[in-house]
Amino acid sequence: MTKMERACSCKCRFSRALAYLQIILGFFVVIASITSLHRFYSTGVLFGSASKNSQTFKEGYADFDLKSLSDRFEEGLSRLSALQDKLEAAVHSINKNKTAAAETITRSELRTYLEEEVISPLYSAHISLRLIRIPKPESESGPGSPMEDPLINFFTVEEIRKYLTAKGNKNGKVSVYGTNKTYGTIGHACVLMRKELEEYMNYDIANYCKDDWHLGQKLMLGGCDPLPRRRCLARASKLYQRPLPINESLWMMPDDRNVRWNNYRCRNFDCLSSKNPRRGFSKCTGCFELDKEKVKWLTNSTLADFLIDDVLAVKPGEIRIGVDISVGTGSFAARMRERNVTIISTAMNIGAPFNEIIALRGLVPLYISLGQRLPFFDNTMDLIHTSVFLDGWVDLQLLDFMLFDWDRVLRPGGLLWIDKFFCNRKDLDDYMYMILQFRYRKHKWAVSYKSNVEVYLSALLEKPPRSL
Ligand SMILES: *[C@@H]1O[C@H](CO)[C@@H](O)[C@H](O)[C@H]1NC(C)=O
Ligand SMILES: *[C@@H]1O[C@H](CO)[C@@H](O)[C@H](O)[C@H]1NC(C)=O
Ligand SMILES: *[C@@H]1O[C@H](CO)[C@@H](O)[C@H](O)[C@H]1NC(C)=O
Ligand SMILES: *[C@@H]1O[C@H](CO)[C@@H](O)[C@H](O)[C@H]1NC(C)=O
Ligand SMILES: *[C@@H]1O[C@H](CO)[C@@H](O)[C@H](O)[C@H]1NC(C)=O
Repeated sequence: MTKMERACSCKCRFSRALAYLQIILGFFVVIASITSLHRFYSTGVLFGSASKNSQTFKEGYADFDLKSLSDRFEEGLSRLSALQDKLEAAVHSINKNKTAAAETITRSELRTYLEEEVISPLYSAHISLRLIRIPKPESESGPGSPMEDPLINFFTVEEIRKYLTAKGNKNGKVSVYGTNKTYGTIGHACVLMRKELEEYMNYDIANYCKDDWHLGQKLMLGGCDPLPRRRCLARASKLYQRPLPINESLWMMPDDRNVRWNNYRCRNFDCLSSKNPRRGFSKCTGCFELDKEKVKWLTNSTLADFLIDDVLAVKPGEIRIGVDISVGTGSFAARMRERNVTIISTAMNIGAPFNEIIALRGLVPLYISLGQRLPFFDNTMDLIHTSVFLDGWVDLQLLDFMLFDWDRVLRPGGLLWIDKFFCNRKDLDDYMYMILQFRYRKHKWAVSYKSNVEVYLSALLEKPPRSL
């Protein structure tokens, strides 16, 4: 035996001993959990054969879903017993393979094994049992009881019901607005997509979510915005690379590996180029080509192209924060950042990773659909910029609600920059009226022909003071 072999066999023996120890320890935990559960079961309070007991239970806790509680227990138990089977099989094979296999186990293999096969399933079973809570008896929740909320009883998946139930303040104190509970909110049109929402909310608590952001986005676009919160762990890309430093990230294509591509037609950023007819999205065709993006707002080819520096010169030093409501990859925010203006870019991931690229460029994406009120307070923003987004397809009344919302958010003296809005020539008057109804001060106004039937409208408008 060489020295090295001896050293190895010594180390291996050590790790083998460690393995046995940990596995035995694991057993103890499993057995302890099962026994305590068993004791819980056998009291008969919950599922006892005495149906009378269970009846009282039901009456005392009106509307409490006994079946889902029982399902939770079953689930926790089956996870524990699956783990037990696995560990028994592992021990069995170690005994059988005394010579060959055991000595090839390295310390890191053992660690991975314990982490992935023992600790992680044990942990999730533990958590799922922990999360089972017996609700308070009905008498404690007075009038306005959370269970009276009609939405809650609309859904059957327990996790949505939990999310929607109003949660009382722990100290019972009432806020200055007279509320003593907090509601989990969802968009009201969620009820129209009940099947999808229940699928979305069907997951193992504290475990990994399914790879389903796509389903979430479908729900959002169907009017279920905001989506409910979830208690599962969102998946990330396999090998997330360190993002580029801010002095480089604004105009460099980020690493392909920092995006989960499975729900897009493309599998890398190159594929999103305008030359590829099968890139999977149609708006802002060339916006994943940052070389082309670089000249935007610095050069003009039509009257409707305003230059960033001309716009900022209207209010020198006053434009500091703003929102860009567009379809794009954040180039407007990048340009503005170079001029020390902070822009938040709204984005949906329709056919391409718009949110991801904006964030990877070091800018702030805001993931909301056009159905939602902007999450900013009144009179706060210095600038609202919009391009490519509305294009004459949005319903006029919806557009009107949106314009009033923008007006609300814009501060007095703030600028509304409508950037190459395009529409049919015959509809131009309607849109012009909608924009002019706010009686903003006109700094720039330009109409230019896109084609025989379509026109571009660009406008730079200033919100007047409203000292009422
Ligand atoms: C025994 O060890 C060999 C190699 O060392 C391995 O391929 C085999 O799967 C092991 N048997 C069992 C039952 O684990
Ligand atoms: C909240 O206030 C209502 C009455 O306004 C009261 O009936 C209820 O018990 C309070 N809930 C909590 C959790 O304090
Ligand atoms: C970015 O900044 C880092 C450190 O501050 C520097 O080493 C690097 O050269 C800069 N990159 C560019 C493109 O300026
Ligand atoms: C481009 O912008 C400059 C400066 O704002 C302006 O003088 C010029 O007329 C514009 N060109 C076109 C084609 O609109
Ligand atoms: C932005 O701010 C930095 C640091 O305050 C300053 O050095 C730079 O000149 C500013 N850039 C512009 C375009 O104002």
